[in-house]
Amino acid sequence: MSSSSRPYHLVIFGASGFTGQFVVEEVARTISEGPGGTLKWAVAGRSKQKLEKVVGQAAEILGKPELRSEVDIIIADVGQPDSLASMCRQAVIVLNCVGPYRFYGEPVVKACVENGAHHIDISGEPQFLEAMQLNYNSQAADAGVYVIGSCGFDSIPADMGVIYTREQFKGTLTAVESFLTIGSGPDGVCIHDGTWQSAVYGFADSNNLQSLRRKFQHKPLTYVGSRLRRRGNLFFSSEIQQYSLPFMGSDPSVVKRTQRYLAEEHHQTPVQYGAYAGVGGISNVIKLMFAGMMFWFLVKFSFGRNLLIKFPEFFSFGVFSKAGPSKKQMEASSFQFAFLGEGYTEGLDPSQGKPNGKIRILVQGPECGYVATPIAMVQAALTILHEPAALPKRGGVYSPGAAFAKTSLIERLNKHGIQFSVI
Ligand SMILES: NC(=O)c1ccc[n+]([C@@H]2O[C@H](COP(=O)([O-])OP(=O)(O)OC[C@H]3O[C@@H](n4cnc5c(N)ncnc54)[C@H](OP(=O)(O)O)[C@@H]3O)[C@@H](O)[C@H]2O)c1
Repeated sequence: MSSSSRPYHLVIFGASGFTGQFVVEEVARTISEGPGGTLKWAVAGRSKQKLEKVVGQAAEILGKPELRSEVDIIIADVGQPDSLASMCRQAVIVLNCVGPYRFYGEPVVKACVENGAHHIDISGEPQFLEAMQLNYNSQAADAGVYVIGSCGFDSIPADMGVIYTREQFKGTLTAVESFLTIGSGPDGVCIHDGTWQSAVYGFADSNNLQSLRRKFQHKPLTYVGSRLRRRGNLFFSSEIQQYSLPFMGSDPSVVKRTQRYLAEEHHQTPVQYGAYAGVGGISNVIKLMFAGMMFWFLVKFSFGRNLLIKFPEFFSFGVFSKAGPSKKQMEASSFQFAFLGEGYTEGLDPSQGKPNGKIRILVQGPECGYVATPIAMVQAALTILHEPAALPKRGGVYSPGAAFAKTSLIERLNKHGIQFSVI
């Protein structure tokens, strides 16, 4: 498993995808941060032609013509287990960008575990993430392999944000609420169809998440402090001065898994967490209600899902598209995550009375899906390469916070434009 015994530190699987192309660029930008000042890497996927094109494109954008000859190409297809095994045997870490993960993810995790490669993905699909934990945790632990899911915008800012809030709070942090706001330029925001597909199939299957969770047979977590009150389905947030709603992504599931791990393994007081997203003013609320009602109705039937998949732009009022965001849209977009924490200040007994201390944290960065996500994914991988002693003692299937709580990932992200600060 040592870096020197495998030809590549990183193999980017799904490099030809919309997100994959930006992960390729980000890896090419950070080559000098690899072990010994150089990163050995390759791209993988099912089409040699597409992979060559992506490498060529990165070479041109970054002004690094040498990439064309230096970056190797591995042909691997999710439907061909031998090709996955061969890819995994060549990598210290596989950066898996092939989604929706509910359809394509498991064979890659399996191949990584069986062939000794660590696995990092950018899934925002709780069913996939939790199912991998249920099915592969002990096998990965035995193999000494780290399978770390949701290492993109879903859910590194939220998960590491809660960890950072706890680190900065002087005392016992008991609860955190996060409020996400997305900034955009005159052309608005846009997300590629790959994420839309993951969302459509994920919401269609959301009922199965409860039965999956029961299989873990977890004991309830023992929280301290006041019970975190769940806000409404739509409310005006005085904190961010916008209408807001509960955040529908993987953040709450991921943060909860991390808090459980830290409570069970490190005897930390678990932090209650509520995640919200700002939607803006009343006209956005009306659009969103309309789109949301259509989505919830259609997603229940296979005919409706086919319609949603075929016409993402129409059903999302242009927020999702098959073309993905333009360069201009991406450059003008940013995110801000405000974390509002409460707890017992130092010296106060957390078993007595109400929390008396508050803290505000800001995590902010560039465009979420295709700028912040590749940064987070690549920095997660570099953390594995550079700080093995700070990772959990055994391999296994981990959330980012569980894997990276004791590492310098937050400092690394700060240096790459995803900034964590106390406000
Ligand atoms: N966490 C986050 O914040 C975040 C951000 C961005 C994206 N994502 C997730 O990342 C995933 C990818 O999104 P995307 O927009 O990049 O999708 P995409 O453009 O459709 O890319 C999918 C990739 O998967 C590859 N692929 C499909 N079937 C394959 C197979 N059988 N064998 C090997 N490769 C296969 C495709 O290869 P071909 O080119 O050969 O078709 C392509 O490279 C989605 O699940 C999305 O939700 C998450």
